[in-house]
Amino acid sequence: MHELMLANGATKPRKGPGGVDSGQAYDSLASRYDNLLLDNPVLAHSASVSLGLVKETLASSQHILEIGCGTGRETLEIASLGKVVVACDPSNESLAILRQKALHRGLSERILTRNLSASKVATLVDEFGKHTFDGAYASFSLSYEPDLSVVPDQVWDLLKPGSPFLCSIFNRFCASEIVLLAPFLLPRRALRRLEGWTELPVDKHSVIVKSYTPRQVRRIFAPRFSLRGVWAIPAIIPPHYLHLLVRLSGPLRPAWERFDVRLNHVWPFRNFGSHTCYHFQATG
Ligand SMILES: C[S@@+](CC[C@H](N)C(=O)[O-])C[C@H]1O[C@@H](n2cnc3c(N)ncnc32)[C@H](O)[C@@H]1O
Repeated sequence: MHELMLANGATKPRKGPGGVDSGQAYDSLASRYDNLLLDNPVLAHSASVSLGLVKETLASSQHILEIGCGTGRETLEIASLGKVVVACDPSNESLAILRQKALHRGLSERILTRNLSASKVATLVDEFGKHTFDGAYASFSLSYEPDLSVVPDQVWDLLKPGSPFLCSIFNRFCASEIVLLAPFLLPRRALRRLEGWTELPVDKHSVIVKSYTPRQVRRIFAPRFSLRGVWAIPAIIPPHYLHLLVRLSGPLRPAWERFDVRLNHVWPFRNFGSHTCYHFQATG
């Protein structure tokens, strides 16, 4: 089944043009994933903002579910605070790297990896029971999930009432992209984001990423979660694939990044970033 039914009845590919799903694409990127942050200042800035929000939001959580952990960039930091993380990802290669790093840092006992996509986390109920986690997060991963609507119920079933769930999702309208005329310069990426999905390169593959407006995300999560906060990641810095512009800013970059952090929670900037980070709370 390579086709996915859209709300308007049209179909679009579930897999990228090469017939590879996102988990397989991240398998082939896994060994180089951590280096991307060193090479791309926008990814590095976004990663740092995301980690700050995860730490702050999950400060009082102890038993945490992570969806789309990748090679464990955030998993290791959260586990090093003394918390236990059940880290899920459809990419087995990424999980193998995470386990290696956990072993190296003496964190293996605090990190359990499971080869699961967001749409399959319900299977964790058999192993851990219902309402056992007191926090969950999914950084930059839920946009790869072909059907986001199946996720809220599954995460809610695993969370204790009142627990936080933080997720960053590819945004439908990215102001910096529009201002920089990316829809004309990069129509495949920027115009399709406006249509609700686009293709992004992952290693040598091209994968489908879905984009949502904050209103759509709030509606999808509404019956099970109430919204506590929204941030743009990044807000006034362009998306990672326009990182050359950020490099060109040279010594102005730190100031630009500080300004980005000051504005990322402010209306209207918080609704028009490349990704939007949502702090939900599981309803009781
Ligand atoms: C951009 S990486 C982010 C990894 C990590 N959260 C981080 O911030 O470094 C996206 C991750 O989402 C995972 N992924 C792809 N499809 C997914 C799905 N349907 N459900 C959950 N995760 C998925 C990929 O395997 C990859 O590890």
